[in-house]
Amino acid sequence: MQDTEIQNLIEQEAERQQDTLMLIPSENYASKAVRDAVGSVLANKYSEGYAGRRYYEGNEAIDEIELLAIDRAKKLFGVPHANVQPYSGSPANSEILFALAEPGSTIMGLALSSGGHLTHGHPRVTFSGKYYNSIQFGLTPDAKIDYADMRAKALEHKPKVIFFGTTAYPFILDWEQARKIADSVGAYLVADVSHIVGLIIAGVHPSPVPYAHVVMSTTHKTLRGPRGAIILVTDEGLKKDPDLAKKIDSAVMPGMQGGPHNNTIAGIAISLLLAGQSDFTEYGHKVVDNAQVLSKSLQDKGITIVGGGTENHLLVMDFSSDSEGGGTLVAAALNAAGIVTNRNTVPSDTNPFYPSGVRIGTPAVTTRGMGEHEMRKIAEWIAEVVEIVKSEKLPVAKEERQNYIKDFRARMQANGRIHIIRNLVRDLCAQFPVPGGN
Ligand SMILES: Cc1ncc(COP(=O)(O)O)c(C=O)c1O
Repeated sequence: MQDTEIQNLIEQEAERQQDTLMLIPSENYASKAVRDAVGSVLANKYSEGYAGRRYYEGNEAIDEIELLAIDRAKKLFGVPHANVQPYSGSPANSEILFALAEPGSTIMGLALSSGGHLTHGHPRVTFSGKYYNSIQFGLTPDAKIDYADMRAKALEHKPKVIFFGTTAYPFILDWEQARKIADSVGAYLVADVSHIVGLIIAGVHPSPVPYAHVVMSTTHKTLRGPRGAIILVTDEGLKKDPDLAKKIDSAVMPGMQGGPHNNTIAGIAISLLLAGQSDFTEYGHKVVDNAQVLSKSLQDKGITIVGGGTENHLLVMDFSSDSEGGGTLVAAALNAAGIVTNRNTVPSDTNPFYPSGVRIGTPAVTTRGMGEHEMRKIAEWIAEVVEIVKSEKLPVAKEERQNYIKDFRARMQANGRIHIIRNLVRDLCAQFPVPGGN
């Protein structure tokens, strides 16, 4: 049986991915081998438990696959223990908290508006902010991690767990400094490297492994694997708590999960193998080079970049001086031009629904083979779209905003200048086919 409705929508999405510039920094193109594993018969199998200790029969091949994934993760990162079963990054972070803290324990993380992640204790609306006493640290006026603030808050509130990791922060993280802060109050240091894991593997960014007790990474961003996550326990972690590996494993299963997604685990194993090869190192360097060229070219066109530049795969454009909610309008207009980004808060933002920033990143376009020449072209197109948006303003009345944005999207689709850029984007994309095809 063919479900043509779904099949047509998959084809529509495949076409979109081929014909547009994927500049969302958390997205990438998984290889054909990874996608084949994810769509394989492995998805049919139940295997609650761990290799050699399953609650279900028939797991001979599944055990081997999971052991291979674990072995590759341990070797690639130089850690004594890896769990490859977390369904994704958010479950993985909740599992880490389940293992290391009690409900009501104090935890600490970088605030969302400063580039942190929801699962690091964002107050009120998330499990990590609701079920734990969450303390958030922020940035200095020049948009760098405020280690003094982090230290002072740690000393005052004595967190049990400190999450250190970012989702919209463009600079290198100081793991040693974070560990010193964790040690000053006896906290566990959890490094969440979801965004920068590919840069760490490529040797472009320092690894947290010598400092963190636990390392978490999603597998679908710079790593180019399937949607999933891994939790690593380091030698430092085992020194602090010899039971740490056991605690993490039981928090994953039976603590928070049932049957692992074996198809995903096979995809993770493949992505770890590919990440160990020399062309991955080259890719990691190019991702950062491309981001720096993009950042510089945008600045040359008068666009403000949060922090004034980037040391990693992403940057945040700041339109707060243009109008409130400028990021929302720029992201919508860029989408009409085939340049796909996400709206994002900038440090001065108070309204996360209509933020002033747009986050862009280079992992996916680098995977397609684009280089500095293409980054300069992309910067030109972005700057032109920004010019078009400049005369637009979100209405002050909140109830009018949704309708305004809907109408704005339609106007941008019909705009002649946007139409020209859309065609140029399509031509560029045609020169760089999506790896592994559609
Ligand atoms: C730093 C960080 N941690 C955790 C997550 C959560 O991952 P997922 O979306 O797979 O739940 C993300 C995703 O954006 C992230 O950037």
